[in-house]
Amino acid sequence: ALGSVGAVTSDPTPTDAPDLSTTAGKIADLKVRYHEAVTGPGEQAIAKQHAKGKKTARERIDQLLDPGSFVELDEYVRHRTTAFGMDAKRPYGDSVVSGTGTIGGRNVAVYSQDFTTFGGSLGEVAGEKIIKVMELALRTGVPIIGILDSGGARIQEGVVALGKYGEIFRLNTKSSGVIPQISIIMGPAAGGAVYSPALTDFVIMVDKTSQMFVTGPDVIKTVTGEDVGFEELGGALTHNKISGVSHYLAADEDDALDYVATLLSYLPENNLTDPPVFEAYPEMEVTDADRALNTLIPDSPNQPYDMQAVIEGVLDDGEFLEVQPLFSPNIVIGFGRIEGRSVGIIANQPNVMAGTLNIDAGEKAARFVRLCDAFSIPILTLVDTPGFLPGTDQEWTGIIRRGAKLLYAYAEATVPLVTVITRKAYGGAYIVMGSKQLGADINLAWPTSEIAVMGGQGAVNILYRSEIKRATDEGEDVTAVRTKLANDYTYNVASPFLAAERGEIDGIIEPAATRSAVIKAFRALRTKRASMPSKKHGNIPL
Ligand code: HXC
Repeated sequence: ALGSVGAVTSDPTPTDAPDLSTTAGKIADLKVRYHEAVTGPGEQAIAKQHAKGKKTARERIDQLLDPGSFVELDEYVRHRTTAFGMDAKRPYGDSVVSGTGTIGGRNVAVYSQDFTTFGGSLGEVAGEKIIKVMELALRTGVPIIGILDSGGARIQEGVVALGKYGEIFRLNTKSSGVIPQISIIMGPAAGGAVYSPALTDFVIMVDKTSQMFVTGPDVIKTVTGEDVGFEELGGALTHNKISGVSHYLAADEDDALDYVATLLSYLPENNLTDPPVFEAYPEMEVTDADRALNTLIPDSPNQPYDMQAVIEGVLDDGEFLEVQPLFSPNIVIGFGRIEGRSVGIIANQPNVMAGTLNIDAGEKAARFVRLCDAFSIPILTLVDTPGFLPGTDQEWTGIIRRGAKLLYAYAEATVPLVTVITRKAYGGAYIVMGSKQLGADINLAWPTSEIAVMGGQGAVNILYRSEIKRATDEGEDVTAVRTKLANDYTYNVASPFLAAERGEIDGIIEPAATRSAVIKAFRALRTKRASMPSKKHGNIPL
């Protein structure tokens, strides 16, 4: 049986009805009830779940937690509904399994919705169970992991079920920034029920077997006439690639559970503790891998390269746990370690849209900065962006309001901030990507950096309009004149040495020296103390 470890010491033995007037009979009765509670809904229901490529609620918990660590709560609760003949079926534990345990030896709290019982739907009792384990997680300062597989609010229970969702949302919000909250979607999450995962820090979805939507295909068809299937509407690929609701597209349930365990290894238990530190002895001499960065930046400023090379170049063992890799890949976010300590990485990706910042990239990075800041994870920012994406689409969908989130997030962050500019850092994008003025502690640049109000071509159009007109009038090779002026501008005005002269950059480093410079920068910042003025809360542009 996959229940709480240690509640009973052995399975029941087939006996006649236990004699409840004796101690032995009471213990035998406990074993019978316990067995009933943790063996769940029966083989047929379990087979139906397995046939869909899904595990049961208990199998998922068993796989997620360290062996033998699960301590179950509330396995004997039962619903009290009488409407719709519900009183004929009152299984122990109702439609969710909850409790505490460990992952990698560290405490967590968990709940796992059981689709085989009333479709995992949430009525009063299932809601109370989830609320109880969430409150326990908050009180004890440990991450809460929700495994969702549910038809949503239990239709038979009406407003009582809706009310429990409201309480869960409030607890999600109260816990935000205090304990890490992770949602693993392993089946349907329909209607308002999607808003609990939406309020948590990470949403992991399993390919093909999970869906999230506020209104389903039938309602959409009735209201708008639009024809769309479950998968296209709210499947894992949709939410990882298009909407950005999900942070990881797991190939299957095993992959999802593995990702969560790895993710937790970068996070602290709560906002008052530090992330775990792993033993690491990085090579401080320049290695061949370090030297490879010296040839990464192409001679032509218009040629892209892969920023992942820089990320892997600075992290311990090149190990990078990317978050939201499929959404807005023009910016890269994720976790790694430097000298065994967690860091959050935020990096423009010149390989995608030249690393341009758009609304999606800004929001993706802003939420990640705030996550790292809430949980004491230092941030390394790697910059190569030509600026914000121009166009009416971006302006009219609010790049001003929504782009401001990233500025806000960096400006209020108090964790150690180290920024390395590898190439382009133009205009507002220079400021927003962890500039010194926004509060970064140590700002470094490669000699290939270009830091200015705008790129050479754009600047030439404005600064040298008459020079270009003269060249045109006199029949000179205008392209050559333009290129020369733009190059002069890049070498002179956009030179990182100008920024360094002004102290906007603390140092200019050879790319091969990046790893050791970043290690030393974070070492120097370990004792950083900073705080914002006390306030009820800020008003981040939403
Ligand atoms: C009670 C439910 C249920 C629900 C499913 N079941 N959803 N029981 N309340 N919300 C039951 C079914 O009756 C069935 O019971 C069993 O669970 C399995 O469901 P199936 O439909 O057979 O499974 P499947 O074909 O896989 O379809 C899954 C599903 C579908 C897509 C989730 O069941 C469905 O559309 N359910 C309703 C979804 C919904 O609209 N929920 C309300 C959303 S609004 P038996 O006994 O036959 O096995 C909401 C508001 C939240 O949640 C409010 C927050 C503010």
